[in-house]
Amino acid sequence: MCKSSRASVSAVVVDGKMIGRNVLDNVEKRARKLLENGVEAHLAVVIVGEDPASHVYVRNKERACEKCGILSTRIGMPGDSSQEEILGIVEDLNADKKIHGILVQSPAPAGVDELAIASSILPSKDVDGFHPANLGKLVQGDNSGLLPCTPTGVMHILESSQFELEGKRALVIGRSRIVGMPMALMLAQKGADATVTIAHSKTADMEEICMEADIIISAIGRPHIIGPDSVKPGSFVVDVGISRMDDGSLAGDVHPSVEEIAGWITPVPGGVGPMTIAMLMRNTIRAAESLNN
Ligand code: GUN
Repeated sequence: MCKSSRASVSAVVVDGKMIGRNVLDNVEKRARKLLENGVEAHLAVVIVGEDPASHVYVRNKERACEKCGILSTRIGMPGDSSQEEILGIVEDLNADKKIHGILVQSPAPAGVDELAIASSILPSKDVDGFHPANLGKLVQGDNSGLLPCTPTGVMHILESSQFELEGKRALVIGRSRIVGMPMALMLAQKGADATVTIAHSKTADMEEICMEADIIISAIGRPHIIGPDSVKPGSFVVDVGISRMDDGSLAGDVHPSVEEIAGWITPVPGGVGPMTIAMLMRNTIRAAESLNN
């Protein structure tokens, strides 16, 4: 279908808040059931330094915990904390039987190795899903570990929208350990069965590759970099990017005019963001359930 013939057709704007709320309702029920058995699900969030954006993210996670009946404890550390000091806190939380999930908010201060921190969290309490053991399971097609929240949230959006992935061409833009790489694995996994391309800063012929994709997942963090000329008509466009503009507003990687071309689009804010938090809650309740079985 040529672009102009769809000019008056708008994409379905996916309501991540609503889909996320359904996940939170389910988590709340499970938290109540655990409580009836004498277990209060408990998430520990470590935040190092005073980065305002990180504090907003952490506050949002605490609010979600409150909503679902999950106890949260914030451990604030000074911005000049050393890696050893952070590792020491994680060790204490690993040993604490009352803590079911541990998250160390990114970004860590300069000089702190985030991979070392992620690797120090017990895989069974790794609610971010960043531990190599959890990511390693995903590589093997084993979803029994805790899985990274943003890509899991995207998969949930696709399922909720009843978008059939089998045999489709999926393009993941971005190759991070946290979003791009696990996202590509989930899309290619048996059961999802998409054919996946991973694009990154060195990719040539980007527009051409975008135009071939039935689904684009953009996770680069450059405002409005994906324009209407890079999108196949009727495709599913998932915007993971989130950037703060000079006027204080938030912008995704995808230009708003893509809405006239795509079949489905996730907005920023209100698309993938609420799903990431919902999946964090789901991971926390899973961790609490499995540590108490
Ligand atoms: N900083 C921004 N997003 C995240 C996240 O999902 N997990 C952690 N640990 N830090 C973040």
